[in-house]
Amino acid sequence: MQPLDCSYWKYWNFLLALVLLVSLASLTSSCMEQEKASLLHLLAGLSRDGGLAASWESHKDCCRWEGITCSPNRMVTDVSLASQGLEGSISPHLGNLTGQLRLNLSCNWLSGVLPLELVLSSSIIVLDISFNCLTGGLSELPSSTPARPLQVMKSLVAINASTNSFTGQIPTIPCASSPYFTVLELSFNQFSGNIPPGLSNCSELKILSTGYNNLNGTLPDELFNITSLEHRSLPNNWIKGALNGINKLTNLVTLDLGMNELSSNIPDSIGELKRLVELHLGHNNMSGDLPTALSNCTENLDLLYNNFTGTIPESIYSSSKMTALRLSQNHFHGKLSEKIGNLKSLSFLSLRNISLTNMTRTLQILGSSRSLTTLLIGFNFMDDTMPEDDRIDGFQNLQILAINDCSLSGKIPHWLSKFRNLRMLFLQNNQLTGPIPDWISSLNALFYLDITNNSIKGEIPISLMDVPMLKSDNTAPKVFELPVYDKSPFMQYLRLGSFPKVLYLGLNNLSGVIPKEIGQLQALVALNLSFNRLSGEIPQQLCTLTNMQMLDLSGNHLTGTIPSALNNLHFLSKFNISNNDLEGPIPTVGQLSTFPYSSFDGNPKLCGPVLVNQCGLAEADPVSIVSTKQYGTEVIFAIAFGVFFGVGVLYDQMVLARYFG
Ligand SMILES: *[C@@H]1O[C@H](CO)[C@@H](O)[C@H](O)[C@H]1NC(C)=O
Ligand SMILES: *[C@@H]1O[C@H](CO)[C@@H](O)[C@H](O)[C@H]1NC(C)=O
Ligand SMILES: *[C@@H]1O[C@H](CO)[C@@H](O)[C@H](O)[C@H]1NC(C)=O
Ligand SMILES: *[C@@H]1O[C@H](CO)[C@@H](O)[C@H](O)[C@H]1NC(C)=O
Ligand SMILES: *[C@@H]1O[C@H](CO)[C@@H](O)[C@H](O)[C@H]1NC(C)=O
Ligand SMILES: *[C@@H]1O[C@H](CO)[C@@H](O)[C@H](O)[C@H]1NC(C)=O
Ligand SMILES: *[C@@H]1O[C@H](CO)[C@@H](O)[C@H](O)[C@H]1NC(C)=O
Ligand SMILES: *[C@@H]1O[C@H](CO)[C@@H](O)[C@H](O)[C@H]1NC(C)=O
Ligand SMILES: *[C@@H]1O[C@H](CO)[C@@H](O)[C@H](O)[C@H]1NC(C)=O
Ligand SMILES: *[C@@H]1O[C@H](CO)[C@@H](O)[C@H](O)[C@H]1NC(C)=O
Ligand SMILES: *[C@@H]1O[C@H](CO)[C@@H](O)[C@H](O)[C@H]1NC(C)=O
Ligand SMILES: *[C@@H]1O[C@H](CO)[C@@H](O)[C@H](O)[C@H]1NC(C)=O
Repeated sequence: MQPLDCSYWKYWNFLLALVLLVSLASLTSSCMEQEKASLLHLLAGLSRDGGLAASWESHKDCCRWEGITCSPNRMVTDVSLASQGLEGSISPHLGNLTGQLRLNLSCNWLSGVLPLELVLSSSIIVLDISFNCLTGGLSELPSSTPARPLQVMKSLVAINASTNSFTGQIPTIPCASSPYFTVLELSFNQFSGNIPPGLSNCSELKILSTGYNNLNGTLPDELFNITSLEHRSLPNNWIKGALNGINKLTNLVTLDLGMNELSSNIPDSIGELKRLVELHLGHNNMSGDLPTALSNCTENLDLLYNNFTGTIPESIYSSSKMTALRLSQNHFHGKLSEKIGNLKSLSFLSLRNISLTNMTRTLQILGSSRSLTTLLIGFNFMDDTMPEDDRIDGFQNLQILAINDCSLSGKIPHWLSKFRNLRMLFLQNNQLTGPIPDWISSLNALFYLDITNNSIKGEIPISLMDVPMLKSDNTAPKVFELPVYDKSPFMQYLRLGSFPKVLYLGLNNLSGVIPKEIGQLQALVALNLSFNRLSGEIPQQLCTLTNMQMLDLSGNHLTGTIPSALNNLHFLSKFNISNNDLEGPIPTVGQLSTFPYSSFDGNPKLCGPVLVNQCGLAEADPVSIVSTKQYGTEVIFAIAFGVFFGVGVLYDQMVLARYFG
């Protein structure tokens, strides 16, 4: 996935120079009346102008207006009104500007359609309307009928209409008549249908970006004829096809076809792409062995969720620049090569569910990768044992470690205490025993701990209440090299700081009381202690954790009453204390009163309007609410709860993905 950055300025600068040359013509003193009138029409179409009208009033000469640049002959050449808080519609009168124009209205709240006049304009060369709320089609133009390719966009060299709500088909770009067309950026819209024909006539096209739409059909062969192409990014559509002919795109730097329906294999000839830096083919239906010669300039290789087979080719390990490698969820076999240590820049490594064996050996090999910050190796090593202390070393820079779902036995290993930069630790769904170690508080950066569904026993250590990052609101600034997927294939996190601060300790054998020191974890957003053997009362100190959004204490032996001060947790949206031995009334006002019956169920001594047990009536007649069947449902509920919460219901990560994907 290609981040929206500004590294393509060079083309714009080149174009600008071209424009200036072309427009060195007669000099007059003030901006032309017609130009001025068109700009004023733009203002008139806005419902909010971010103070623009006031600013423009101060000059008669529109060439001196904020955001407006003119050529020496007083023609408007630049309308740069990005991020001005503009709301309303785009005036068709802008199509009357006659200079060679760069129009940048990106990052506003503009709505309605893109006026036909702008698309038909023979003066606009660069059009950036990205990050707005525009709707309608770009191709529903009178002349764009299939029979007659449209004669629009004649002068257009670059269009960025990404991140709007455009619908319909992608317009046919008449490249035969506009040969300098360079950038087509339409990602994050709702375009549908096929990739239009004719793009191979765009012999200068460098950026083709139509990801995150609903495009379908087959990847057209002619796309492999656009040898000028440097960035081809079509992720998250429904495109089928194969990559045969890819080697013709000798200038390709990034290729992102992730989350489509591609099939077939990666052709050997891909090794001929000497400039290829990023290759994203995750979430497709590709198969076969990987080519022995994947380009050795690759920095970022993502093959997640395909049907690739065979062994991982050694050539992958020759790229000294490789920063991110994800091979997860394929059918590879064989041992991990020791040569992976050659990847000196490797920061992100994800090898989830690819039948790795021998955890000890794997960690010994990877420990020497000094750059490694993210290591995701869950769903491997079935029934292996957590390695002993003295055997694991290195990992100086590791921040995220996932060794979940491996059915590992053993204990939470002491060698983890040496990973001083560890921020997130996923050990859920193993068979680990022993206590939560006291050294846990020495992990100064830890803010996410998931040890759900093991056999961890003993009391919840007080030292866990001293984990520094759970006490403070500091967040981690790291941006992942590749988006980190969680349980759902379409839930992805791009920033470490987007993960909530959590303790997931459910489904273990923890006993004793919930320590009152829990009140120290002021930054905690989710706490799951469900299905343990905890006893005693719900500590009052929990009520001070005002960042809390999810609290699950269900399936324990908790007694006493529900602290009414839990109503102080104003952000609480998931709450479960079912299946304990709590008593007394359920608060009838405040936050707690908003939760359903199921949040309180299975506490025969609780009373309140949402329960069968009415306060004051039922004490003498305890109603057995918990049938075996209901208990079963509760277990499933609690598990689903944990899973969904872990996935990130807290933060709508796809929204982030829209901006950073
Ligand atoms: C439009 O303006 C924004 C904000 O200044 C900038 O990031 C973007 O690159 C500009 N677009 C073009 C095509 O220059
Ligand atoms: C400018 O554009 C508008 C709408 O597109 C059109 O009605 C008008 O005639 C044009 N004015 C001039 C002077 O060309
Ligand atoms: C629109 O796309 C162009 C080309 O990729 C890019 O230079 C420009 O920065 C983009 N605009 C914004 C607001 O990101
Ligand atoms: C492609 O999408 C269009 C519009 O959504 C739809 O009408 C068409 O049936 C789809 N074609 C295929 C092959 O799925
Ligand atoms: C591409 O250009 C050729 C020659 O100019 C023209 O015949 C052909 O129709 C064009 N293709 C499309 C789809 O525009
Ligand atoms: C691609 O280019 C080759 C050679 O220029 C040409 O023979 C072929 O027809 C083109 N294919 C498509 C689909 O445009
Ligand atoms: C892998 O291939 C099988 C059949 O060969 C298919 O059913 C399955 O959907 C494929 N898996 C992926 C992830 O594409
Ligand atoms: C994936 O490819 C296999 C053949 O390799 C095919 O049998 C299967 O239907 C494909 N699955 C999807 C979802 O396209
Ligand atoms: C990797 O690239 C370098 C030059 O960039 C070349 O000398 C070397 O042979 C290549 N290695 C492989 C395995 O392709
Ligand atoms: C792991 O991979 C196997 C086969 O490749 C697949 O059947 C299984 O669903 C995967 N497990 C997970 C949790 O993704
Ligand atoms: C796992 O690898 C280590 C070397 O790192 C080796 O000593 C051990 O015998 C291996 N275990 C198995 C079961 O192959
Ligand atoms: C708990 O983990 C085991 C593997 O250790 C797994 O088989 C089981 O499905 C997990 N249970 C839940 C509820 O996730």
